[in-house]
Amino acid sequence: MRILLLGSGGREHALAWKLSQSPLCESLFIAPGNAGTASCGINLDFGVTDFESIKKACLDKKIDLVIVGPEEPLVKGVTDFIINSPALKKIDVIGPDKKGAQLEGSKAFAKAFMMRHNIPTAAYKEFTVDNYAEGVRYLQKHQLPIVLKADGLAAGKGVVICENHLEAIAEFELMIQMAKFGDAGKRVVVEDFLQGVEMSVFVLMDGKNYVILPEAKDYKRIGEGDTGPNTGGMGAVSPVPFADAVLMKKIEEKAIKPTVAGLQKEGLEYRGFIFFGFMIVKNEPFMIEYNCRMGDPETEVVIPRLKNDLVELFEAVSHQQLDKVTIETDPRTVCTVVAVSGGYPGEYKKGYEIQGLEEVNPADSILFQMGTVLKDGKVVTQGGRVFCISSYGRSVFDAVEISKEEMQKVSFTGMEYRNDIGYEFE
Ligand code: AMP
Ligand code: GLY
Repeated sequence: MRILLLGSGGREHALAWKLSQSPLCESLFIAPGNAGTASCGINLDFGVTDFESIKKACLDKKIDLVIVGPEEPLVKGVTDFIINSPALKKIDVIGPDKKGAQLEGSKAFAKAFMMRHNIPTAAYKEFTVDNYAEGVRYLQKHQLPIVLKADGLAAGKGVVICENHLEAIAEFELMIQMAKFGDAGKRVVVEDFLQGVEMSVFVLMDGKNYVILPEAKDYKRIGEGDTGPNTGGMGAVSPVPFADAVLMKKIEEKAIKPTVAGLQKEGLEYRGFIFFGFMIVKNEPFMIEYNCRMGDPETEVVIPRLKNDLVELFEAVSHQQLDKVTIETDPRTVCTVVAVSGGYPGEYKKGYEIQGLEEVNPADSILFQMGTVLKDGKVVTQGGRVFCISSYGRSVFDAVEISKEEMQKVSFTGMEYRNDIGYEFE
């Protein structure tokens, strides 16, 4: 099979690492990829939303399967583009069409979908410029804290949790009247705050059947003890120690099955990953979001635990035969720790050479590159999140300790990472 993987993060390095191990993978191309994916396949120099270049590469490289890593091309319709191009119609795609991607592309769509299918989630109301005054009155009476969510994609920054009413109204005005997030924030979901612990569950769906992949928990805040601004994710653990069989059963019955049935009932032929984001409140799962892709850095702990051949799994999606697949999971814990550029998630500098990438001990650890690029034969920093080290261990504590030890061997100017990933499970 000849495969094109779209994306350039740690998620794509982890997927490329796994795909390249499959005997069914004849050739692997990654666009645009990073310095890490270049060791698993051939990087192609175009962006994930450059549909014409995607088409050209599919034809030139005789691609059989396209795997879409990030959400942006999915929400913009890359799957529809491929399926509807006569020259590309034999190509299989992992990633939903534009309609299915609305689960992530529109918070209002996702909330309404959860309501229609009785999936537990926080109560909410939706506002635009048309009912702005009603929205302000709603906020004034709302209990604190208040969660405001920009409807559309806002590069992970569209959720604001407000501790007082003045702040909530100011934020609401910024989103709707001042277009703080552009068109993405002109519709706002105002949601009740849920107090609990977060975790994520990943499902692969073939339009009819689904399989559940290992669950994970990520650490979004930049600072230790979960303080400071949100990031794309500073680390992750899998399995999640509190996710016992009883909780996983509730998650499947109350969220996964109704989602799969709901997609089918609404005529959405969803083929790809669904990321279920939960807040667990007193042992009960409440959905806070859907994503139409895998998580990053969650993929970097989920994929190392997956024993199945990933190409075989994707073939089963294309043939709608996931009902014949059994997911096999490595029982060990995998944790990842992310190294970021100094200043991230605010402004940071790029272009620093990374030393010691080859020093990481492959016995228990894998280094996945994130924001990196090859320049004059050297690997240099190119993003806020630069690389992560995923390690196998007997427990969260054990795996994190191994990652932190390996982290000492790698360096670049301004490198930072959290020392406390998995702290609540020690
Ligand atoms: P999202 O961009 O949807 O991933 O949301 C960002 C973060 O906001 C989540 O990871 C949660 O920590 C938090 N969040 C979202 N919705 C709620 C909610 N209803 N109650 C409490 N926290 C929330
Ligand atoms: N780590 C969170 C995400 O991928 O959305």
